[in-house]
Amino acid sequence: MKLNLAVLPGDGIGPEIMREALKVTKAICKKFNHSLSYKEALVGACAIDAVGDPYPAETHQICLDSDAVLFGAIGSLKFDNDPQAKVRPEQGLLRMRKTLGLYANLRPVTVFPNRAHLSPLREELVKDADFMCVRELTGGLYFGRPQGRSEDGNTAYDTCIYTREEVERILNLAFELARSRRKKLTLVDKANVLATSRLWREVAQELAPRNPDIETEYMFVDNAAMQLIQNPRRFDVLVTENLFGDILTDEASVISGSMGLLPSASIGVHTSLFEPIHGSYPQAAGKNIANPLAMILSVAMLFEYGLDKKDEAELIRRAVAASMEAKVVTEDLAGTDRAYSTSEVGDWVAAWIEEEE
Ligand code: IPM
Ligand code: MG
Repeated sequence: MKLNLAVLPGDGIGPEIMREALKVTKAICKKFNHSLSYKEALVGACAIDAVGDPYPAETHQICLDSDAVLFGAIGSLKFDNDPQAKVRPEQGLLRMRKTLGLYANLRPVTVFPNRAHLSPLREELVKDADFMCVRELTGGLYFGRPQGRSEDGNTAYDTCIYTREEVERILNLAFELARSRRKKLTLVDKANVLATSRLWREVAQELAPRNPDIETEYMFVDNAAMQLIQNPRRFDVLVTENLFGDILTDEASVISGSMGLLPSASIGVHTSLFEPIHGSYPQAAGKNIANPLAMILSVAMLFEYGLDKKDEAELIRRAVAASMEAKVVTEDLAGTDRAYSTSEVGDWVAAWIEEEE
């Protein structure tokens, strides 16, 4: 097939890990006879510096014209340390999510067998944990209006809004995902307190009988926060609203041992976007030490969910697993072994793909 990607390296370590992801994408395209073309575009702090806008119109157009978007990371200390800044990199990210209609954020949590000991949780607890968080990404408190301050500045407010359509859309996707996995769905909400959560639960209870092959359960978010670290293996697909999903997926990310291993997919109305969940890690920028595997695994998700090419995705995942078996890993995963650089790991994974029969 002809593949046309939008490539948004962004800030911090984004450009370095993107370079490795592109090596792997090229290796896969060569192997499977796909022709690859891509356009790079600005997003985040680097876009503010260059053109004064964290998500320029040109970038949006390049995304709209693409089959899928590969995204590195945004954010910079310059803005984190300046709460008064009027234009912020994060605004670009939120605008990108909204205008591309990226309504479902898929964050798989898996534990690579020989890395389970790196988790801060006991190895026997996390071993074989394998679940998918589905976070609603374009609604809730992030986007609800009104949002702001009273005139005297002493009162602030955010609004949480969800419509039935928004809830149905993401629940349907979550049921489908559960169907392709172990057929268990957990809706996480706060229906004992919040009206929006009661709408989520009502819609889920309507949809559950239409999905009789899926075991559907309901869990309050405070309980879910506990169960995630007490018994992560009990989850298969976990679906929840925007802010709960933001918090729970950071919590879930430690299960695997390194944030540098977790990819994500944001399924959209206009196009879909694939990014590692770890962010811009400014302290490591330019040092060639950041772990490129989450970005590379995001390429695997791009092939699986963005292009419906499962064999390509599988080969990338096998190559990543092989790099860990061979202990060709960056410092976050190396333990007492030798730490490889970002580009060495990328080269190794791309070469493994090329050599695989
Ligand atoms: C994430 C991040 C973003 C979010 C920030 C950077 C706005 O934490 O993708 O999880 O809160 O959604
Ligand atoms: Mg977050």
